[in-house]
Amino acid sequence: MAKSATKAIGILTAGGDCPGLNAAIRGIGKAALGTYGMQVIGIANGFYGLINNQTRILSDQDFSGILTQGGTILGSSREKPFAKKESEDISGDKPAMIVETYKRLHLDCIVCLGGNGTQTTAHKLSEMGLNVIGLPKTIDNDLVETDVTFGFHSAVAIATEAIDRLHTTAHSHNRIMVVEVMGHKAGWLALYSGVAGGGDVILIPEIAYDPEVIAQHLVDRARKGKQFSIVVVAEGATSVTEAALKEKQKKKKEKGKSKKTEVSGLSSGYRVAGEIQELAGMDTRVTVLGYLQRGGIPVPYDRLIATRFGTEAVRLLADGKYNRMVVYKNSEVTNVPIEKVAGRTKRVPEDHTLIECARLVGTCFGDKMP
Ligand code: F6P
Repeated sequence: MAKSATKAIGILTAGGDCPGLNAAIRGIGKAALGTYGMQVIGIANGFYGLINNQTRILSDQDFSGILTQGGTILGSSREKPFAKKESEDISGDKPAMIVETYKRLHLDCIVCLGGNGTQTTAHKLSEMGLNVIGLPKTIDNDLVETDVTFGFHSAVAIATEAIDRLHTTAHSHNRIMVVEVMGHKAGWLALYSGVAGGGDVILIPEIAYDPEVIAQHLVDRARKGKQFSIVVVAEGATSVTEAALKEKQKKKKEKGKSKKTEVSGLSSGYRVAGEIQELAGMDTRVTVLGYLQRGGIPVPYDRLIATRFGTEAVRLLADGKYNRMVVYKNSEVTNVPIEKVAGRTKRVPEDHTLIECARLVGTCFGDKMP
């Protein structure tokens, strides 16, 4: 067995699941157990399992045959150990329970596979003296310091395939097809799948849209004989009016004055479809892809990057280097201090090359006529 500064690790998967999680678990497990002889303990259901000691020793058998399996063999949750309950501050118990589990299992490090929330929690645990290593996981691709997260390209493939299918039915019925994709507060998934799927309109949270501009673009297309259009809407996309209202609410909240008022109970796709129907009078239908984007088997790219992230994490463990997140930067797999990631979100820059590219082929982002 190769020399290792780390003897025992815990692995947990937290936050929204995605294809690639099991590929990452396999990469970590096979390298840690098979190459370095580390003890590998599986922690069930994210931080919930760490709080409640839902753990078991994993064997080589557990890592067999899971490379192509969707979901996570460990289970996941959105448990936030440091979140304060409105009525009382019991968060103190949960972190203490985590430290107790960590010590009882004689862990040297916890490997946390997750998105923003997970890495923020992992960083807080490191501030309590626990050793952590983060792997960037999410279909949203909204983690800073890394060019890509595993799960993202599988979701892009699912959304793009859906857009391809919507093209044929939109064409048959001369309709406007609105497809709502996930992505939380960032527009990466909508941008990538919108360009790959040939969306005529792509709406992302980073560019507030004007419904009039969208309507005008669709009418212009129809006048040129394009009787159907595809409108790709990120779940976090907002109109200029909604963006202004949210900004006002944010300022009021900062002054402790605001009562949260929902701009609209409808999801972004239905809001946009209603605006198109009203302003352009065109026959419009909505498809919300939802959790389809989190299901199924990982595309080859995600299998590769997840495995690579996993083995990079084990290299750090063997060297005794902790409290870092593995990243993919400038075509290299490397790592950064986890505190550089905690509490931050990577949003699409308005001058991103893919936005420029899309505008050049006539795609409308709702802010101005192409
Ligand atoms: O973070 C991944 C994600 O799928 C987001 O795109 C989406 O907004 C969110 O999770 C849904 O959260 P939940 O799985 O808790 O419903």
